[in-house]
Amino acid sequence: MKNRLEHLAIIMDGNGRWAQERGYNRTKGHEVGAEVVRDITQYCAKEPDIKSLTLYAFSTENWKRPKMEVNYLMKLLERYITKERDTYMAHGIKFETIGDISIFSSKLQKTLKETRELTKHNNNLTQILALNYGSRDEIVRAVKKVVSSGKEVDEESISKALDTPYSDIDLMIRTSGEQRLSNFLLWQLSYAELYFTPTLWPDFTTEELEQIIDDYKNRNRKFGGI
Ligand code: IPE
Ligand code: IPE
Ligand code: MG
Repeated sequence: MKNRLEHLAIIMDGNGRWAQERGYNRTKGHEVGAEVVRDITQYCAKEPDIKSLTLYAFSTENWKRPKMEVNYLMKLLERYITKERDTYMAHGIKFETIGDISIFSSKLQKTLKETRELTKHNNNLTQILALNYGSRDEIVRAVKKVVSSGKEVDEESISKALDTPYSDIDLMIRTSGEQRLSNFLLWQLSYAELYFTPTLWPDFTTEELEQIIDDYKNRNRKFGGI
């Protein structure tokens, strides 16, 4: 039997290299990358099996980048989400975030909150953007939540207290040839299938995604059994 793909996660990497290879500023790579986010999200919304798409957009470590690049990314995010609302509604996409967004400007937080509210009844696909997300930070926040509630610390209580209590990841793709997790969903990826492609994110297409999903569907997932 082929594997079902319900939850796909992607580390969208390689925007900077894509731009630099073409003699552009790195920010151009992020701009083109945002267009790819739109295509891939719409594709997933049309696939009946895929229920969740988690995208790594900004890590807790990305604050180390030059101020100019960080500022650009924040502005791009605000612009993207505002512009995307029509697409979310037209394609039945629910918008969610994971990560600690309390550090963002109040304007950006408001945009995120309003978009979550607006799209909360859509049910073709949930697009989850990981923003100021770090898996270690998420796990620490979750354990603190469990402890302060007085509940027993176990796998179930921690899972439920994470920013992502919805489901484990089935397939995780990282673009750009890097083969590491960079603090992404360490808990939720425990039994995910991993796929690393050399394609830089701005060059990633739905055709390549289809091929990767096909590869995934034919893998032998064992979960510790035989
Ligand atoms: C991924 O592309 C986007 C973010 C981390 C925001 P990069 O900006 O990391 O691109 P490279 O890895 O430098 O090419
Ligand atoms: C991971 O990519 C973060 C995102 C894609 C948002 P990075 O480019 O920041 O990761 P490293 O630094 O190469 O590990
Ligand atoms: Mg990178």
